[in-house]
Amino acid sequence: MIFSNILHVCLLLASAARSAPFSPAVETDYDAIVVGGGPAGLAATSGLARVRRNVLLIDSGEYRNDPTRHAHDVLGFDGVTPAWLRFAARQQVSDYGTVSLVNGTVTEIQPQNNNTFFKVLAEYPGNKSVSFTTRKVVLATGMRDILPSTTGIAENWGKGIYWCPWCDGHEHADQDLGILARLDSAVTSVREILTLNTDIILFVNGTDTPANRNITEGKFPGWEKYLTLLNVKIENRTLASINRLRDGATPYADPSLPTHPEHDLFQVEFADNQNPILRNAFFADFPSEQKSKVGENAGVQLYGNKLAADGAGGLVTNVPGIFAIGDANSDNVTNVPHAFFSGKRTAVFLHVQIERENSVAQIAAVGKRNVQNNDLQTLWRRMNEPDDVTFAGHTFDMLS
Ligand SMILES: Cc1cc2nc3c(=O)[nH]c(=O)nc-3n(C[C@H](O)[C@H](O)[C@H](O)COP(=O)(O)OP(=O)(O)OC[C@H]3O[C@@H](n4cnc5c(N)ncnc54)[C@H](O)[C@@H]3O)c2cc1C
Ligand SMILES: *[C@@H]1O[C@H](CO)[C@@H](O)[C@H](O)[C@H]1NC(C)=O
Ligand SMILES: *[C@@H]1O[C@H](CO)[C@@H](O)[C@H](O)[C@H]1NC(C)=O
Ligand SMILES: *[C@@H]1O[C@H](CO)[C@@H](O)[C@H](O)[C@H]1NC(C)=O
Ligand SMILES: *[C@@H]1O[C@H](CO)[C@@H](O)[C@H](O)[C@H]1NC(C)=O
Ligand SMILES: *[C@@H]1O[C@H](CO)[C@@H](O)[C@H](O)[C@H]1NC(C)=O
Ligand SMILES: *[C@@H]1O[C@H](CO)[C@@H](O)[C@H](O)[C@H]1NC(C)=O
Ligand SMILES: *[C@@H]1O[C@H](CO)[C@@H](O)[C@H](O)[C@H]1NC(C)=O
Repeated sequence: MIFSNILHVCLLLASAARSAPFSPAVETDYDAIVVGGGPAGLAATSGLARVRRNVLLIDSGEYRNDPTRHAHDVLGFDGVTPAWLRFAARQQVSDYGTVSLVNGTVTEIQPQNNNTFFKVLAEYPGNKSVSFTTRKVVLATGMRDILPSTTGIAENWGKGIYWCPWCDGHEHADQDLGILARLDSAVTSVREILTLNTDIILFVNGTDTPANRNITEGKFPGWEKYLTLLNVKIENRTLASINRLRDGATPYADPSLPTHPEHDLFQVEFADNQNPILRNAFFADFPSEQKSKVGENAGVQLYGNKLAADGAGGLVTNVPGIFAIGDANSDNVTNVPHAFFSGKRTAVFLHVQIERENSVAQIAAVGKRNVQNNDLQTLWRRMNEPDDVTFAGHTFDMLS
């Protein structure tokens, strides 16, 4: 009797599977559309490609680290140009048959049917408007640095004027360093670069005011004594320009080695036109903003200026089905390893999430053929013995 019941269920399951093998919960052009092809978007695409998801990556090609000479602290790629890193990643990812990488700009993401799928509008080169449907959307749109207008900063960004000691500090070890930031942030930055060199000047550009000193004391009690101890000077004069005297680029250095000294030299000029100062390299703390508004316009919430992403939900945003990774998300970590990690994290979660939704729909469809959920569960338990090597875990519990 039991046997015949099971046989009955098996036959029904088999016929359901034949009539609609792996039929998804919602029919769309893509499983996922990844918006942005920097390291984060490429990592998400890789994770989805490996399990044969149909993925479209749309990239408008304005990468945050484009101006910098070399990408560092990216294991296996330490010291390559950022363009090479992306090229190598694109080559590998595009070898997978279920992936398409295209140039274009996503202009709108329209949630459909209670976020069960999305319509994504984009502009391709030559003003070609396209639109696709997708189960999930991954925002890998990055941040844009807001550089001050002071002459010399935009020109030398990533080439002697940097934001991150891990990215570009080692190349300027034992050189004369400057910090370009508001007083409170300049003072706390000293601790980040002290192992490179102790000859440090803080260019605080008129922010050494009583109110800012108070803020600094709150962040770093005893900071004045600390600076005196280290002989770190504060230069409060208003900056006029930062002029390059020497280019430290090393285009002919051995590319198999991760790091080479870069001997840049700059002259800092002030509004008072007196006593310019020479420095080899600067670390800066400037504000940044979202590069794209497509997430926000689709209803994604912001924490500060970052797309709010839930680490426990594969970095999903408040809009179910839209994920946020890389620099743009509220992890507030902005480096290539994080871009890779967060892309991978979303790829895994998103992949399983789609199948979770599919399995619910598929089982519901079987249910409509008068198969009791109880019978299915009994069958599953018999086929999925905890001691068996093929045991898949108590997956049915998730569905009940
Ligand atoms: C000067 C500098 C040097 C750096 N050096 C290093 C380093 O050495 N090592 C390191 O680990 N990190 C470094 N970083 C940080 C690193 O650049 C970022 O952490 C990394 O680029 C983040 O990757 P991402 O994919 O999130 O964003 P991005 O690399 O900025 O890529 C975002 C992509 O999304 C695209 N995009 C945005 N909106 C849309 C849209 N609507 N439609 C389609 N595409 C869109 C953009 O065009 C861009 O191609 C550096 C940063 C700077 C500023
Ligand atoms: C995409 O843009 C890049 C950089 O602008 C270009 O080199 C590449 O050929 C473009 N790819 C396609 C498919 O148009
Ligand atoms: C919309 O989806 C959410 C889960 O993402 C669910 O809780 C809610 O009941 C759905 N609403 C409708 C009307 O289906
Ligand atoms: C695309 O459209 C813009 C205006 O929306 C126009 O300025 C531009 O010349 C067009 N480019 C091409 C290649 O047609
Ligand atoms: C310095 O201050 C001036 C005047 O307030 C401002 O215009 C400029 O952008 C600032 N530069 C930097 C590097 O902060
Ligand atoms: C720093 O410069 C600002 C703006 O010019 C000025 O208000 C302030 O008094 C200066 N601080 C010191 C310690 O001189
Ligand atoms: C300094 O900060 C403290 C709180 O940390 C505040 O009570 C005080 O009013 C501030 N003083 C000035 C001059 O801003
Ligand atoms: C990131 O910063 C924002 C404020 O800018 C904050 O709301 C958010 O909680 C921060 N995220 C983390 C993980 O600390």
